[in-house]
Amino acid sequence: MVTLDSRPALPAVPKSPDDVPGWFWPLDQQLFSWLLERQTAVGQHGDLLEMGSYLGRSAILIGRHRQPGEAFTICDLFDSDAPDGDNAAEMTMSYRETLTRAAFERNYLAFHAELPTIVQAPTSALAGDVLAPGSCRFAHIDASHLYEHVAGDIQTARAALADDGIVVLDDFRSPHTPGVAAATWEAVFDHGLRPICLTPEKLYGTWADPGTLQGELLQLDGDVDGCNLDIDIIRGHQVLRFSGPGVAKLMPSGIHRDGRSAAPPRPAGRSAARRLALDLLPPIATRAVRRGLRSARERRA
Ligand SMILES: C[S@@+](CC[C@H](N)C(=O)[O-])C[C@H]1O[C@@H](n2cnc3c(N)ncnc32)[C@H](O)[C@@H]1O
Repeated sequence: MVTLDSRPALPAVPKSPDDVPGWFWPLDQQLFSWLLERQTAVGQHGDLLEMGSYLGRSAILIGRHRQPGEAFTICDLFDSDAPDGDNAAEMTMSYRETLTRAAFERNYLAFHAELPTIVQAPTSALAGDVLAPGSCRFAHIDASHLYEHVAGDIQTARAALADDGIVVLDDFRSPHTPGVAAATWEAVFDHGLRPICLTPEKLYGTWADPGTLQGELLQLDGDVDGCNLDIDIIRGHQVLRFSGPGVAKLMPSGIHRDGRSAAPPRPAGRSAARRLALDLLPPIATRAVRRGLRSARERRA
């Protein structure tokens, strides 16, 4: 007997994390990998946290950097009700059609042997001491875009992070997310968050001194056409600004586009620092120095 199954067909099991729908692009994938690998390479041990995972695109990459003894907690509403009307509207507009916890779990398990700790609830459920204070080394905030929620998520991350932990804030400048922008810059100006760097999508920050990390990021070698690096000073804060696809510059050796492998960051090269110095010079001086470098190279050849 033939029976007809009227349930919608499940999407194919992803072969690469890039097959998982989401909003997590190569430049940020590489920065996440670089920062998480660096933490491990310098002996920074701690738990990992993501608020807002959707179908798992960013969680899959973060989970790859989990070391023995570290926990990875993700928090998402998935198919549960939102805590208020504005959040419910956001969920209906952007996620409800495609998002289920089962779909997240299926995607995650295509790349990992076990699931992270899943908190299926509003991120406010993480406030208080649900996460041990100071236990985390890395937190990605990418859940609700509403000001009140994001401001709370930042405080939750701050309490959960160790002194030298890193927080990443998604959508800190998108036209449709002014609440995230407000909460982000409020954290910088009023709550001691120190920006490390920006990409078009995300602000990376810490409550520690970002100087060492910024120095290492400045010295990354790679493809100048693939990744632009600028420096801004914002009310005394140095902020590195990355843009472009960024593939080569931020790619620690041994990292593949699908995020496999966890090689330690390669030692700082000289050429990116030199390029940066060139970028900081006024254009006419820059052109003169570039001409000088070119003729020195030609003389050597
Ligand atoms: C932009 S998506 C996350 C994208 C994901 N990080 C990625 O890179 O693909 C935002 C997620 O936050 C969740 N979310 C929205 N409001 C939330 C809330 N108040 N508490 C917990 N999760 C929430 C949504 O269900 C959705 O999965």
